[in-house]
Amino acid sequence: MLSRLLQHTCGRHRPASTPVWTALCRFQSSLPAEELGSVSAQYIDKEERYGAHNYGPLPVVLNKGQGVHVWDVEGRQYYDFLSAYSAVNQGHCHPKIVQAMLDQAQVLALTSRAFYNDVLGEYEEYITRLFGYDKVLPMNTGVEGGETACKLARRWGYDVKGVPKNQAKILFAQNNFWGRTLSAISSSTDPSSYEGFGPYMPGFEIIPYNDLAALEQKLESDPNIVAYMVEPIQGEAGVVVPDAGYLRGAHQLLQKHNALLIADEVQTGLGRTGKILASHHDGVQPDILVLGKALSGGIYPVSAVLANDEVMLTIGRGQHGSTYGGNPVASRVALAALQVLVDEKLSENAQRLGKVLRSQLQAIDSSRVKGVRGKGLLNAIIIEEDEKVKAWDICVRLSENGLLAKPTQGDIIRLAPPLVITDAQLDECAGILKDTIKSFD
Ligand SMILES: Cc1ncc(COP(=O)(O)O)c(C=O)c1O
Repeated sequence: MLSRLLQHTCGRHRPASTPVWTALCRFQSSLPAEELGSVSAQYIDKEERYGAHNYGPLPVVLNKGQGVHVWDVEGRQYYDFLSAYSAVNQGHCHPKIVQAMLDQAQVLALTSRAFYNDVLGEYEEYITRLFGYDKVLPMNTGVEGGETACKLARRWGYDVKGVPKNQAKILFAQNNFWGRTLSAISSSTDPSSYEGFGPYMPGFEIIPYNDLAALEQKLESDPNIVAYMVEPIQGEAGVVVPDAGYLRGAHQLLQKHNALLIADEVQTGLGRTGKILASHHDGVQPDILVLGKALSGGIYPVSAVLANDEVMLTIGRGQHGSTYGGNPVASRVALAALQVLVDEKLSENAQRLGKVLRSQLQAIDSSRVKGVRGKGLLNAIIIEEDEKVKAWDICVRLSENGLLAKPTQGDIIRLAPPLVITDAQLDECAGILKDTIKSFD
């Protein structure tokens, strides 16, 4: 079994103390890099020394990616089961997306929206037709998409619904995650996100996720609610899949009370859950759709907010924008990224292989596996932790065995490979997962 596990590390036998492991030890005990003597440790040390400490990465230093694989600075190959938090649905460095960026960057990269450019309109036409909306508002990151959606909902609330000035309220679900700006953390229920960063944005309220009665009660008690912003599956919360019909029920309640459904599909969108939008599992067309991450296939920060004219045209000229949003490179990259998703039938692949992965994970006979859940290729294993073994330890051993994944919410390991993964690769990865988890029994 050991040799099978070791095959995944470029076929090389690992010494007892690998650089990854050494770097982890250093990470945990804060040893100076000189004592480690590894290439990885030097890179880690530099980031630790000169970068803000706002992330806690696994001690793996990557310098190359292609398709479902990434490589570290010491030449080891890994399967990437994080996919940059689902930004790399199309696989690392997809040649068509890279080429689109290179071609455009050599001609015209950035004009700002002070002028028209000859790519943006083509992209806007493509994306609005693909998702069935009148208009798109281009931004850069997912959190900016969420901000934009909230601004649109407020403005629609005042101009169309007739909410009194400054009284608009937006609902969010418990354990939501949509980024790290002050607005985003103002709606967060995770103290590590919001604690110590107040004061918070007013007009945001929380309801339990997957609870239609709670939504109905809130809507009935407050006529100033303009929208409910929700992830069709909660990604950062630990791949929490609501009951079938939840999103459809929520949309119907919102329609009844003249409020908007904002679907945050930054993580669930673009094929990840087995459909181009996770909302489609429930047959829902959200009033406002937020996309990001895989909208560029990981090549460039691109996000977008889509809505029909009744909503989108409430924001007028000069009332919202971004210097980089909708620039020619971003537009070309997003066009290519969307075309790859469609042409390569990546949603269909995610749907089919997601089922295979879940059934293989469910078959793992280990006391460490408390549960398996997910949709398409957005999945999670819930780990039975104890004093000796944490999900983090399993992720470190997975990395030693050639597969990168990261815990979310402590005991949950999210499994989200690029959607270009093949049957044979998935099978191999299921073997790594099984053998690694069982090695903790
Ligand atoms: C559902 C969801 N929305 C929004 C965001 C924020 O995206 P970004 O990090 O690009 O700002 C994330 C990031 O993980 C997310 O998962």
